[in-house]
Amino acid sequence: MAIELPPLPYEPHELEPHVSADTLGFHHGKHHKAYVDRTNQLIAGTDLENADLETVIVRAREKGEQTLLNQSGQVWNHSFFWRCMTPEKLQPEGQLAELIQRDFGGLDAFKDAFKKEGVGHFASGWAWLVLKDGKLAVTSYHDGDSPVGRGVTPLLTCDVWEHAYYLDYQNDRGGFLDAFLNNLVNWKFAARQLEQASAQQSA
Ligand SMILES: [Fe+2]
Repeated sequence: MAIELPPLPYEPHELEPHVSADTLGFHHGKHHKAYVDRTNQLIAGTDLENADLETVIVRAREKGEQTLLNQSGQVWNHSFFWRCMTPEKLQPEGQLAELIQRDFGGLDAFKDAFKKEGVGHFASGWAWLVLKDGKLAVTSYHDGDSPVGRGVTPLLTCDVWEHAYYLDYQNDRGGFLDAFLNNLVNWKFAARQLEQASAQQSA
């Protein structure tokens, strides 16, 4: 079965003014779609043709197939990223809020750490909030690489490729990260990732 482009979970204009409809339209309809199409081209006729996306990523990394790793990782990362944003104004709650307090010292300190990771990431890539060995941590991966198969639970990500922000923020990656952290984060989605990881651990 071919890998598919998932629809955005909101209308492209709904994240304005923080992310414009133009940016979201190009980002999803052109960039993300191109990664889906290229991944399907790369796995067509191979033993990965009917594999699920996670398997494609893990196998590409194992085999050192960098092009397939980047393309398939970009499919996964973008599908995850759309769900990390919402037009609702949310705050972290419950266990996630407690862990942010315990592991970063509070929400503002988390935002500072995440922004620093995103701004400091050289060239293209992704900033992540992950659960690793029972602790929250901020990290980043280059180009299209992803947390899939790395033994961490991703809770949240922000795309720091220039195509994610250049139309709206030009070279101000930090301004984009501020807008993301202060206005767009879907904390309910992040909390669900944490709950699922906890449920799997205790199963
Ligand atoms: Fe992107």
